[in-house]
Amino acid sequence: MRSRVTLSLIGVLALAPAWCLVPVATQAQGAAEPAAVERGRVVYRDLARCSYCHGWNGQGAIPAEEAPPAPLSLSQLDATAMVEVVRCGRPAKSMPRHTRAAWSEKDRCYGQTAGDLAARDLPVAAPAWLTNQQIADVVAFLRATIQGKEITRANCVRYWGEGAPECAGLQR
Ligand code: HEC
Repeated sequence: MRSRVTLSLIGVLALAPAWCLVPVATQAQGAAEPAAVERGRVVYRDLARCSYCHGWNGQGAIPAEEAPPAPLSLSQLDATAMVEVVRCGRPAKSMPRHTRAAWSEKDRCYGQTAGDLAARDLPVAAPAWLTNQQIADVVAFLRATIQGKEITRANCVRYWGEGAPECAGLQR
């Protein structure tokens, strides 16, 4: 019985036209739609102001009193882990949480609730809450333009607009 099921599954896969399988493969590699990346840039730059601490290019800015975070270009996190960091923040660090429900019983963070942390270690609330869509978008932006990427003039102009002084020194 079992082998029959397996065989018929193999049959279905063998018969499936190649184009059926392509979107799944693309999603698995985390290729984001351009529209999501654009929306994510607006979240990063204007709404959540991630750039205040991470810099426009993810290299780290220097807010008072604290060392800048490690460059996001060097982040080893996958998309799912990034979503959790943005949603939850990082305990005992200045990375804020971006959803109201984070750390509650129904929306645990790193498997924990606020009750599992010392009160002072609970990540602070971000100035603006983000929706799940906005978090997915800002992660798409990070992965498409910052994580593992070089700082290019094209990216700079897309971020700041043509003629911005921030991009003047970038050759390419
Ligand atoms: C108030 C400063 C601050 C703001 C605002 C901020 N971050 Fe962070 N972020 C940090 C710090 C500090 C860390 C490093 C925490 C640590 O050492 O564990 C961090 C870590 C991260 C990481 C984990 C990187 C890794 O590989 O471990 C991601 C992803 C991230 N931030 C994305 C964002 C995004 C997206 C936003 C805006 C929605 C944002 N951050 C807003 C300070 C900030």
